[in-house]
Amino acid sequence: MTPDPQSITVELAGRSYPVLCGPGALDAAMSKVVALCPNKRLLCISDQTVADHHLHRLADACAGAGLTLRSLIIPPGEAQKSFAQLESLCADLLALEVERGEAIAAFGGGVVGDLTGFASAILKRGTAFIQIPTTLLAQVDSSVGGKTAINMPAGKNLIGAFHQPALVIADSAFLQTLPARQMRAGYAEILKLAVLGDADFFDWLDTHGVDALGGDAALMGQAITRSIAGKADIVACDEREHGVRALLNLGHSFGHALESLAGYEGALVHGEAVAAGMGTAFAYGVHLGLCPKDDYERLANHLTACGLPASLSAAPGGPYTAEAMIQILKNDKKNQSGVLRLVLPRALGDAFVYEEHDLGRLEAFLDVQLGQS
Ligand code: GLY
Repeated sequence: MTPDPQSITVELAGRSYPVLCGPGALDAAMSKVVALCPNKRLLCISDQTVADHHLHRLADACAGAGLTLRSLIIPPGEAQKSFAQLESLCADLLALEVERGEAIAAFGGGVVGDLTGFASAILKRGTAFIQIPTTLLAQVDSSVGGKTAINMPAGKNLIGAFHQPALVIADSAFLQTLPARQMRAGYAEILKLAVLGDADFFDWLDTHGVDALGGDAALMGQAITRSIAGKADIVACDEREHGVRALLNLGHSFGHALESLAGYEGALVHGEAVAAGMGTAFAYGVHLGLCPKDDYERLANHLTACGLPASLSAAPGGPYTAEAMIQILKNDKKNQSGVLRLVLPRALGDAFVYEEHDLGRLEAFLDVQLGQS
């Protein structure tokens, strides 16, 4: 029997919103979509790959609900998170006479969601916004929580805004066409959620994660729901990342540095960078005497079993150097008063923010890590 879609609420005073997830979520959400479309049209931004695979489903759902679908299609790829594409998208939406009260929908992966969300945040000082994520990574992480951004040469997501969606529709039907590499990349974000604060969930993933990735849709559905619920709780506690939300950056400081160096052409995808970054954070935790070596080994073994890189030297897209990574880390968004703030582990399921004052020590560690084969 096909399970019903689940509804998880992101609780934010006056701005709470549902995340509908699982099979059939799109159809189940259409009455909510209609309520966000006073002009009886849905303005949707997607990329060419997603449009080719799935736009007909959204068009059918809109037609069935009495909405006209107007779609703007951008090329796929991280390079679209640029000022040039933002300007072009805003111009197109203004040409369509978008109104503040009508929703713009992001229909695609994290790139489409981040770019569309930022356009929605600034157009006419803010329009309503629907996330319809079609990748695993976007369903479990980037579509939930209102982070929107574009990239700069100095690093990823350095220009952006917090702008919460009014509705998230994470229909598992969209995952059916997702390449295995993208499924693994999304799984890295599920794993991150467990590793930073939920040891029981890590145990569950350690037992079932490989099967979930191998095609067991019921197990993957459970992993997705639990991960979204965990993220919704964190966002509800700390929307603007003044505290616990920073832990969602586990693996991301090292990961963003790798991504910046690899370029955004696909040699290294975000989830792979996060996986290698988590492995590195645990290795550094062990190096500093903060975390048991057994926990690092368990994580590294699980990452490897899932086909994800567990270390800097295993990350595709190199060569990387410690010196170049340190240069990028110096501009990390989490830094305060010139001090690098890393999310490091005390154990599996227990991460915290660590202030690293000794960049020389970190650079030497990274150098050794990169030299390992
Ligand atoms: N992707 C991390 C966050 O939403 O805070």
